[in-house]
Amino acid sequence: MKDQAEGLRNLVQIQNDKGTKSTRIITVTSGKGGVGKSNVTLNFALALQSQGYKVLVFDADIGLANIDVLMGVSSKYNLYHLLKKEKTIWEIIQKGSNNLDFIAGGSGFNDLIRLTEEELDYFAEQVMQLNGYVDFIIFDTGAGLSKETMKFILAAEETFVVTTPEPTSITDAYAIIKMVNSMGHDVSFKLIINRVTDWKEGKQTADKIALVANQFLGIQIPALGFVEDDSSVSKAVKKQVPFTIAFPNSAAAKSLQSLVDDYIKGYRVMGTPSSGVKGFLNKMLKLLK
Ligand SMILES: Nc1ncnc2c1ncn2[C@@H]1O[C@H](COP(=O)(O)OP(=O)(O)O)[C@@H](O)[C@H]1O
Ligand SMILES: [Mg+2]
Repeated sequence: MKDQAEGLRNLVQIQNDKGTKSTRIITVTSGKGGVGKSNVTLNFALALQSQGYKVLVFDADIGLANIDVLMGVSSKYNLYHLLKKEKTIWEIIQKGSNNLDFIAGGSGFNDLIRLTEEELDYFAEQVMQLNGYVDFIIFDTGAGLSKETMKFILAAEETFVVTTPEPTSITDAYAIIKMVNSMGHDVSFKLIINRVTDWKEGKQTADKIALVANQFLGIQIPALGFVEDDSSVSKAVKKQVPFTIAFPNSAAAKSLQSLVDDYIKGYRVMGTPSSGVKGFLNKMLKLLK
């Protein structure tokens, strides 16, 4: 019997031969909900974009999709229309704040694992077209460890884990890292500590997680940086304007900006080329088997 992923595999091969510029894929996740994952994802993307990178935000939060709401944009088409083959990827990409490209989430995301071979091929063929179109694709996944989120974490080149300094958030962030690690996959995790009162609190939180991960899992989890706890974020959410745009001089915006500056420095010196969308789909494909 023809296996489900054959069409996909052929596509990956075609893309390999074309040798287009690679796109880096980042998955953003958290243990607990409400820790600021979507706000961090969106503003991280906008800050990268303002440094000249082309970025696409892909809302993959099942049920709680809200990247569009944070920008005050109503989305006509979303991922559901792609999965159901009603629209092409180009038709579901929308323009948000500062012309940021984004794909709105949809309840249809639950269907990813139940797609028919034909739908899966279509999805892959469409997503593949993004390779080289943008420098970064950033997936905002749901909190906690659903099967779908897991696939995104395992397939992406790097995973940002967002946590606050609260013990419950820390424990849940660690639980995610531990579970992914226990599956024997080599995932590049980086911590983002959100809602810190000061740099010291952020550092202490990051050190706690890094220490436990090193001691019990034998892995290194570096901190990407900290975002300050700041009422501007909530004000910006209410205005439906991303906080780095609404309040560029706020403590939250400034700390996020310096986090992104550090990330870009690291990105520039990384040297190794990203495996791109094809690498992502290759891994996804193995997981779907
Ligand atoms: N750095 C911050 N400072 C103050 N409040 C924040 C900050 N980050 C997030 N929040 C608050 O938390 C709420 C939830 O953020 P959101 O990004 O939707 O979380 P998640 O995507 O993790 O569920 C926001 O609406 C805002 O009120
Ligand atoms: Mg969210």
